[in-house]
Amino acid sequence: MFEPFRIKAVEPIRFTTRAEREKALAEAKYNQFLLRADDVTIDLLTDSGTGAMSAAQWAGMMNADESYAGGRSFYRFRDVVQDLTGYKHVIPTHQGRAAERVLFGSILQPGDVCLSNIHFDTTRANVEALGAEARDLVIPEGRRPEVVHPFKGNVDLAALETALIEDRDRIALVIVTVTNNSGGGQPVSLENLRSVRAICDAFGKPFFLDACRFAENAWFIKDREAGNARRTPKEIAQEMFGLADGCIVSAKKDGLANIGGFVALNDDALAEKCRNVLILSEGFPTYGGLAGYDLEAIAQGLIEVVDEQYLRHRIGSIAELAQRISSAGVPIVQPPGGHAVYVDASSVLPHVRSLQYPGVAFANELYLHAGVRTSEIGSAMFGMRPDGREAAASMELVRLAVPRRLYTSAQMDYVGDAVIEVARRASEIAGYRIVRAPRVLRHFTAEFEPLGVGARV
Ligand code: F0G
Repeated sequence: MFEPFRIKAVEPIRFTTRAEREKALAEAKYNQFLLRADDVTIDLLTDSGTGAMSAAQWAGMMNADESYAGGRSFYRFRDVVQDLTGYKHVIPTHQGRAAERVLFGSILQPGDVCLSNIHFDTTRANVEALGAEARDLVIPEGRRPEVVHPFKGNVDLAALETALIEDRDRIALVIVTVTNNSGGGQPVSLENLRSVRAICDAFGKPFFLDACRFAENAWFIKDREAGNARRTPKEIAQEMFGLADGCIVSAKKDGLANIGGFVALNDDALAEKCRNVLILSEGFPTYGGLAGYDLEAIAQGLIEVVDEQYLRHRIGSIAELAQRISSAGVPIVQPPGGHAVYVDASSVLPHVRSLQYPGVAFANELYLHAGVRTSEIGSAMFGMRPDGREAAASMELVRLAVPRRLYTSAQMDYVGDAVIEVARRASEIAGYRIVRAPRVLRHFTAEFEPLGVGARV
């Protein structure tokens, strides 16, 4: 397997010494979101908006129409989204969380409940910002890193039905994240989506997809779910979208674009509400906070992302990195997901308690050792509840998120070897405490302080 593309433009990466990284990390208050990107050699903080665009995307951008209203680029974007999703209304937004705000702001009231497999961080925050409750109902296997299951992102259907019976009046929305980012980039099966559809129909509830990584999810269905091997990823994606009433999408992932997102849906009245919220803060409905050239980049990206060669390499390259790391005995979420390898930091660092943030500890050591930036998905990200209580998250993970079409396999081998080396020195790694943090989405700006080595309070 090799990269199914040639490299047309290159960008040098910067190498640093350990002493430089120690200084940079201390200045960033031990929070890798606060590092300057120039101090990072391989950046696996996120796969969001960080990929390389194709020659066809750049060419489309030059041909874009920047009219305020009714621009040609909007219609191209709309047609591509409609062809893929089948939804009647297509509403562009500047990124995924804006789509969340537009949709949730049009559906949720204070006291309502939103059900999901697992809400991602901004998704949860946008639900909670409206005074509603975000409740996660992934299958139990989805919270156990070592358990192998082909569709660990599936919704626990019994739990979904129970919730709908017990809290019928409060539940305003069911939203399934494909792939399930917070649970390891794990896919959801078509069979599970069909059941969610049937249950939502029985209770008269709207069912949406948080579909940032729809193409990666479609590839897993093709590969793992009986009866789909001969279908194209696009056909599978079309069926996924067809099972839901609408979707929110961050185009920074499978849109293969650096910025952008959208809401797409069938319901006329709800679409009108969404457009009204949109105009208030995002922009006119034919650009929604984006430049015409962004709409072109996304339209072309959505066509390229369902290409079989692209997806085979994409999912295969994540699996290769996972294989390198796990064959050296480092515990990771199994099987590997679609956009990232997730190291199980609580298993690697059993001496670091959850609220000493083992994921932050491992990620910071990886940065110091190799200049590789990653992100924690654990108690720093999810440990602060809306009532201000701190409670451990269900998993302590370090996510090695791989930007699309950006790094070569030699660079990924370097990352894998660095992870193995840091895990080998696990006993020397201590936890952290938070010295300053906002209450909402605290992981982005929290300031940390290292605990002494051997601190096991
Ligand atoms: N939903 C999911 C499942 C996501 O992974 C993200 C973003 C969003 C919504 C919000 O989209 O960033 O365009 O506003 N995830 C990025 C990440 C940031 O690193 O996983 P956005």
